[in-house]
Amino acid sequence: IPVEAFDLVVFGGTGDLARRKILPALFRRYCAGQMPEGAQIIGAARSEMDDAQFRVFVTEAIAEFNGDFPYKDEDMQGFLSILFYITVDALGDRGWTELAAKMQADRVRAFYFSVGPSLFGPLAERLHTYGMADMNTRIVVEKPFGRDLETAKELNRSLADHFDEHQVYRIDHYLGKETVQNLMAIRFGNMLFEPLWNSQYVDHIQITVAETVGVQGRGEYYDRAGAMRDMVQNHLMQLLCLIAMEPPSRFEPDAVRDEKLKVIRALDPVDPGDIVRGQYRAEGERQSYLEDVENPQSTTESFIALKLHLSNWRWAGTPFYLRTGKRMRARSSEIAVVFKETPHSIFDEEAGRHRNILTIRLQPNEGIDLDVTIKEPGPGGMRLVDVPLDMTFTEALGPDAEQVPDAYERLIMDVVRGNQTLFMRGDEVEAAWAWTDPIIAGWEERGDKPLPYDTGSSGPVDALALMHRDGRRWREVRS
Ligand code: BG6
Repeated sequence: IPVEAFDLVVFGGTGDLARRKILPALFRRYCAGQMPEGAQIIGAARSEMDDAQFRVFVTEAIAEFNGDFPYKDEDMQGFLSILFYITVDALGDRGWTELAAKMQADRVRAFYFSVGPSLFGPLAERLHTYGMADMNTRIVVEKPFGRDLETAKELNRSLADHFDEHQVYRIDHYLGKETVQNLMAIRFGNMLFEPLWNSQYVDHIQITVAETVGVQGRGEYYDRAGAMRDMVQNHLMQLLCLIAMEPPSRFEPDAVRDEKLKVIRALDPVDPGDIVRGQYRAEGERQSYLEDVENPQSTTESFIALKLHLSNWRWAGTPFYLRTGKRMRARSSEIAVVFKETPHSIFDEEAGRHRNILTIRLQPNEGIDLDVTIKEPGPGGMRLVDVPLDMTFTEALGPDAEQVPDAYERLIMDVVRGNQTLFMRGDEVEAAWAWTDPIIAGWEERGDKPLPYDTGSSGPVDALALMHRDGRRWREVRS
């Protein structure tokens, strides 16, 4: 869908997120012909820089973070010509009048707060003071959106002082991933699955987000967050919502977000015995978690597995097992919907008991896979075997499937278009913290310590036991 000319200001424009994700994503959209004539992208930060220096900075960021993305020289020149830079002091008055003067009248203006949450309030206030907060204004913020319910509420309030909820775009980059959106297409675009999508037919659901990376130089932030705050409260929670929610009446922002909110509110408190926390050990050349975060006493988890229950009609009795961790065997994110066995087997015992499993592979190797039980070929008796109906999206859809915009490209353009469907509403974020807070408080009270696990493993063995004791098992983590 074509977009009208807009002004996009990136506060923290010389920071890490801008360099790695935001600016390269904007460049790719430019190359795709999605940047309308007259659009302006304005970097704003404390560093002393002029337009020319900012353009050099962006050129280098693109070279470093765009991999082998092919582009024409004229695209690079064109993109650089819409970039500007203004030195702005988020806590003072410097640069604000200049920034306001740079804004064009009567067009969408988006302000990306690519800065720490402590600056959200001051930035919102200055936008208001300097006359940049009107109905054309949109604010984009990213996690960490608070570290508990109280801080999240405070952040929401500081934005709400100057902006309506429909002007605030809270990014969870998982919602921008192509396959994550495909979850909704698979569920609500097919007749096949939805009638079976409940506790009568589904034995359990597994959500795995496994990473091979460690804390990647973000030790200071990560050690204060841990896997629960860094991944579960946001990304895994969003996946859970999409997989468990009721069909919204329309594919519209509030219809979708109302249903997601109901899922979070239906979550039961988690029994401490249903949680396994882990911390990776050193292996060969690779440092341990404690070395990575330079805190030998740290009790922060780099892995977590937990069993959840939703108290509602659809899911009562069907557990959800979630796990995520760093330095695991493979980078692999998937959701597996494990159906129940048939109520009665007409075959003799040798045939065994089987289950259909629908696996949605989120990354890498995006696709879906349905295990179907068939007869094992051969003259013997009736032996059954599970075979996958396997669809890899790039194979099924051809090269177009490889050209999909990445999460940031899609989300930034959605901001400009004014579509909030893939963004978290304030009440959603607060509900997620309301569920997370008592769990973390429990660990703190009990002095809970994470269990060590080997780099390149599937996490602590206790995480396997979490499922074994229920007569179930995790799907193997492999890419
Ligand atoms: C981020 C977390 O939000 O998501 C990181 O802060 C994590 O710790 C990352 O590595 C994972 O994102 P992706 O897109 O690589 O799966």
